[in-house]
Formats: sequence, C-alpha cells, structure tokens
Amino acid sequence: MSMRWVLALLVLGLSTAPCAQDAGTVEEAATTEAAAAPAPPADDPPAVAGDPQRGQEKSAVCAACHGLDGNSADAINPKLAGQHELYIYRQLKQFKSGGRENAIMLGFASLLTHQDMRDIGAWYASQRVLPGVANDGKVREGEDLTWAELGRRLYQAGDAERQIPACMACHGPTGRGNPGSAYPALAGQHADYTRAKLTEFRDGMVWGEGTRGHPITENANAVMAGVAKYLSDEDIEALATYIEGLHRAERQPTTRALARN
Ligand code: HEC
Ligand code: HEC
Repeated sequence: MSMRWVLALLVLGLSTAPCAQDAGTVEEAATTEAAAAPAPPADDPPAVAGDPQRGQEKSAVCAACHGLDGNSADAINPKLAGQHELYIYRQLKQFKSGGRENAIMLGFASLLTHQDMRDIGAWYASQRVLPGVANDGKVREGEDLTWAELGRRLYQAGDAERQIPACMACHGPTGRGNPGSAYPALAGQHADYTRAKLTEFRDGMVWGEGTRGHPITENANAVMAGVAKYLSDEDIEALATYIEGLHRAERQPTTRALARN
C-alpha cells in the first residue's frame, strides 16, 4: 500500500471516530451540514507552510466577519490580523472536528483542507493588527486605579497570592505570543471577544485535544482553563481592556517596574 493511501485511511479513521460514539446527533447534524458544506476530499494530504497570497484569495469568504485584512470591525468577531499561522491552523482544525464548538465556524472550517487553513493562516499572520484603546476610567469611585492599570498589573505580574500567573510569561510583554509554539497573539484583540473567552476558560471550557505528538501544543487547550480559574469578573474586565490597547509601542516592563507591583 502506498504512503498516500495509508495517510488517507488514517485521516478517514480519525474523522469518523467521533461519529461512531454518538450516532444519534450525527444524523441531525449531517442534514443541516450537508447543504452548507461539501466535504473536502477525504484524501486531505498533510499541509506544508502556508502561502500568504493564496491565503488572501481563499480568505475572501471570511472577510465579511473578520475584515479583509483580519481587522474585524464588529467586536463579536475576533481580529485575526497578526495572529500566528500555526495557531490559526490549529483552531480551524479544532472547529472542523467540533473540538472547539462554534456553529458558525464549524460551517466555514468544514470547507477547508489543511493546506487552505495554513495558507489562510499565513495571510492573516502577514497582516498588522490595529489596536484599540484601553479604558482609562476608574475601577472604583474615589480611587486612582484605572481599568487599564489594573489590567497591566495582572498581565505583567499576575497575582501570586490568588494563583493568577502573569499572562506575559506565555503571551509576551507586548502580547505578540509566540509564532513557534501554541501561544496566540492577544495584542489589539476586541475586549468583547477576550472577555467572552476568559469567562469561558474560567468556567472550565477546554478546546479539543491539543495536537498529538507535539510537545508544546499537547493539551495546550487545557492551559487557559487552569490560568483563568481564579480570575474575578473585575480581573477579566481589566485584562480584556488592557489587551485591546496593547501594541508594539507599549513600553517594555523593566524589572524595577515589575518589582513595584
Ligand atoms: C459569519 C461570521 C464569520 C465568518 C464568515 C467567519 N468567521 Fe471565523 N469566527 C467567527 C466568530 C463569531 C468567531 C468566534 C468563535 C468563538 O467565540 O469561539 C470566529 C473565530 C475564528 C477563529 C478563531 C480565532 C481565535 O483567536 O481563536 C479563526 C481562526 C477563524 N474564525 C477563521 C475564519 C476563517 C479562516 C474564515 C473563512 C474561511 C472565517 N473565520 C469565517 C465568525 C465568522
Ligand atoms: C502557561 C502559559 C499561559 C499563560 C500564563 C497564559 N496563557 Fe493564555 N493561552 C495560552 C495558550 C497555550 C493558549 C491557546 C490555547 C489553545 O490553543 O487552545 C492561550 C489562549 C488565550 C486566549 C484565547 C486567544 C484567542 O485568540 O482566542 C486568551 C484571551 C488568553 N490566552 C489570555 C490570557 C490571559 C489574560 C492570561 C493571564 C491572566 C493568560 N492568557 C496566561 C497560554 C497561556
């Protein structure tokens, strides 16, 4: 048997596995999905590094919600501009497999091959995120602390007493994440989206199963459920608005600035 066929069988085996467990809902899902999403070829070969130009063409259908360059106008749709190719690729696979549950994205991701996902990822990764403005209003009347400042402290230093780790440790001081690993860029993201995600993570949401065989992305999805466990609604609000205002020009925190917190 050729390697190509072995791979095809593997892909088929993986994609049919969840159906066997839950035959009841599959039929209903199949009828609604069949009309919207013609399945990509079963023999979906492994993808190579994405081509941003091809990705731009393939992302035309995504623009209505995510913006032509990945800077979405509507805060309920996350910005994808400046996001890492491999993160986008992995999330699209999660949507398609149903590991990350979202009815809209299930439909759109189902249409894509692995190569489409990487090409589209490469396109958005090549774009620049347009940051918003962090909320400089006071958290409580009569106190100086602003939402942005509270967010900055948590982001840069966490709160050891409450078992909240510094976001910066994984997402970087300017929120750029890390292209070589599982850590997404957060900088400039709509506060509404970040607030919604942090609340879901806090309430125990875990996406999919990570990427098998990859030491860093293994169970990466479970990381945020642990990180967000002790966040209060106030913490989440502060982090979400701070992150929306984060951009490259943000002053890098010094050791002294961190020690002051
Ligand atoms: C009808 C609107 C809509 C369209 C069209 C759409 N999306 Fe989305 N997309 C969303 C929403 C809403 C979410 C947030 C889902 C959630 O909350 O988990 C999302 C989330 C995503 C994410 C995860 C982002 C993150 O930071 O984790 C990626 C990647 C993505 N979409 C890619 C695409 C691609 C690629 C296309 C086109 C093939 C597309 N989307 C088309 C609405 C849309
Ligand atoms: C130990 C590393 C680590 C720390 C610390 C961490 N994160 Fe994360 N974060 C991750 C990983 C990994 C993912 C991607 C999860 C996935 O792919 O399923 C993620 C995803 C996210 C997302 C979803 C991004 C998107 O586009 O949907 C948000 C929002 C987020 N983190 C915010 C935070 C905040 C705020 C903090 C600090 C309170 C924080 N993270 C601390 C590793 C970390």
